[in-house]
Amino acid sequence: MKLFTFIIAIQCCFLTGAFAQSKATTVIRPGEIWPDHQGNHIQAHGGGIIKIKKTYYWYGEYRAKDNDPALRYVGCYSSKDLVNWKFLNKIQFSDPENLGEGWKLERPKVYYNKSTKKYVMYFHLDDKPYKVARVGVAISDKPDRAYRFVKSFRPLDRESRDIGQFIDDDGTAYLVFEDRPSRGFHIAKLSDDYLSVEKDVCLINSPLEGGAIVHYKGLYYAIGSALTGWRANPNKYATSKSLEGPWTEFKDIAPPQTNTYGSQSTMMIKVTGSKGSTVIFMADQWKPATQWDSRYLWMPLEIGEGKLWLAQPKPWNLDLKAGMTNFIQ
Ligand code: GAL
Repeated sequence: MKLFTFIIAIQCCFLTGAFAQSKATTVIRPGEIWPDHQGNHIQAHGGGIIKIKKTYYWYGEYRAKDNDPALRYVGCYSSKDLVNWKFLNKIQFSDPENLGEGWKLERPKVYYNKSTKKYVMYFHLDDKPYKVARVGVAISDKPDRAYRFVKSFRPLDRESRDIGQFIDDDGTAYLVFEDRPSRGFHIAKLSDDYLSVEKDVCLINSPLEGGAIVHYKGLYYAIGSALTGWRANPNKYATSKSLEGPWTEFKDIAPPQTNTYGSQSTMMIKVTGSKGSTVIFMADQWKPATQWDSRYLWMPLEIGEGKLWLAQPKPWNLDLKAGMTNFIQ
């Protein structure tokens, strides 16, 4: 009997230990290790998030230390609350256009097409010196299974480096892409099947990348970062009543000396609940020499009436049902 109690106690210890690693929380800690349900730091850098029914999917560059150097991987995670993430898969790609050693697959974004029922992934496809400047497109029947490479191209025949994703409140899907020769970034509408880039809605004439857009209380807000590679810089925002523009001048989103608190924009997400809406700024704190350890800076933005501000990052609570947030320190 005693031995039995002892075994149960030991089992409980192990269970509690395991649970502690993945314990459900409502707290987001900008800049800290963000463990998935197995306790591993999330690998979804330069990422994007979509919501399908009640589930969020987070896709991004899976840059684990033990990656096969010939392959590229897209991390796919799911969550019901945007805070606790389950690792689903690292989606594997081999060099699709024979770009050679050092080829790039960056900033993957996945769109779910309701009519074709396909998951359509876009990514920045490039060679080692970033001369190719194309997007790659791959599709799947499932959010987290293997994706079949379909094609690569220059959207609207323009160079395309950093890409961003914007899905408007009416469900229209846009690809945001940086076009260096035009010194700006495009907001372009996807075709009905999402497999091509159909129409240039706007070229925002400012040399910015890491483009992110949100629609909030009747205004569009666009954020971008300067072109300084992995080094963080002061990210900026502009607003417009319509995606076509005209867009205002770009202004700092945070004290410029902080270089956006060492981060670079990748997306904004609007969360609407019973008490209000929150816009979350999602950014990467890159660590070029140890990319697997790059961190995420997610913060609720102070936003409204044409103003946008990123406060000093600190841990915060997300109440998804209410659409509200509060700081815990
Ligand atoms: C950044 C870009 C990243 C990556 C990096 C390479 O400007 O946002 O996605 O391409 O340059 O230096």
